[in-house]
Amino acid sequence: MPIPTALDGTAASAQPSASPRVAIVTGGSRGIGRRTVGRLAADGYAVVVGYAGNKDEAEAAVKESVTDGGRVIAVRADVADEHAVAALFDAAEEEFGGVDVVVHAAGRMHLAPIAELDLAALDDLHRTNVRGAFVVVQQAARRVRPGGAIVMFSTSVVGLAFPGYGAYAASKGAVEALTLILARELRGRDVTANTVAPGPTATALFLDGKDEETIARLAAQPPLERLGTPADISEVVAFLASPAGHWINGQVIRANGGII
Ligand SMILES: NC(=O)c1ccc[n+]([C@@H]2O[C@H](COP(=O)([O-])OP(=O)(O)OC[C@H]3O[C@@H](n4cnc5c(N)ncnc54)[C@H](OP(=O)(O)O)[C@@H]3O)[C@@H](O)[C@H]2O)c1
Repeated sequence: MPIPTALDGTAASAQPSASPRVAIVTGGSRGIGRRTVGRLAADGYAVVVGYAGNKDEAEAAVKESVTDGGRVIAVRADVADEHAVAALFDAAEEEFGGVDVVVHAAGRMHLAPIAELDLAALDDLHRTNVRGAFVVVQQAARRVRPGGAIVMFSTSVVGLAFPGYGAYAASKGAVEALTLILARELRGRDVTANTVAPGPTATALFLDGKDEETIARLAAQPPLERLGTPADISEVVAFLASPAGHWINGQVIRANGGII
């Protein structure tokens, strides 16, 4: 039985079944994307984990998901680099025969009041969150097979409008604007395009740099009175990716425990 090998040499294992659906998860090495890799692998998907540079975490994501019985490889690709992203999709097609689901979870956050914002940080953030989204969904729009799904990520902060989140919320507002247009451009292809907009979720992106009081205050805000978990969000993504979720199209889903 051949053992799939990632382009960058990351180890993988294989338990092939007949023509599994194939998913690419950008940002699959950590946080929400990583939990989504495990969730989709447990559903029987072959999964390609995209990551920026954290090879140890990408390898851990592969190992975790393979124990769930999945076929998983990891490929390094900066989402804003169109050549790297094309190679990520090539790897999925060469290794697993095609692409059915693209989950674009890769993202970064930079917090600063607008008056104090470092414009170099703004450019860096938008390179990943805006250019990266366009680069990834451009490949997805060209390659996802009929019956497939594209899932992008925004944030509930687009609606919550917390001070300090201007640059980040603006970058995710771009993703929301893209969602219905992409869904309409995919007319006739039988491929859906949706965006999940989590509220505060316990990952490094949210937790790093926040004190305990801030975290507790944000955790108390939703009626469900806790932070979201990567597992909470991965369930929403798995549904949108599945045939059961296929009638949802062009939508932004606020998955946030009811925070307003
Ligand atoms: N956590 C929250 O509270 C929250 C709330 C709303 C929305 N979101 C959104 O949900 C998504 C996932 O966030 P998270 O909390 O899971 O973040 P996270 O734990 O910080 O993980 C970020 C992931 O994105 C990858 N990544 C970052 N920049 C990249 C680039 N240029 N090219 C390729 N990959 C890149 C990272 O790869 P490396 O490991 O290689 O660095 C990592 O796998 C993001 O789009 C975020 O904006 C999160």
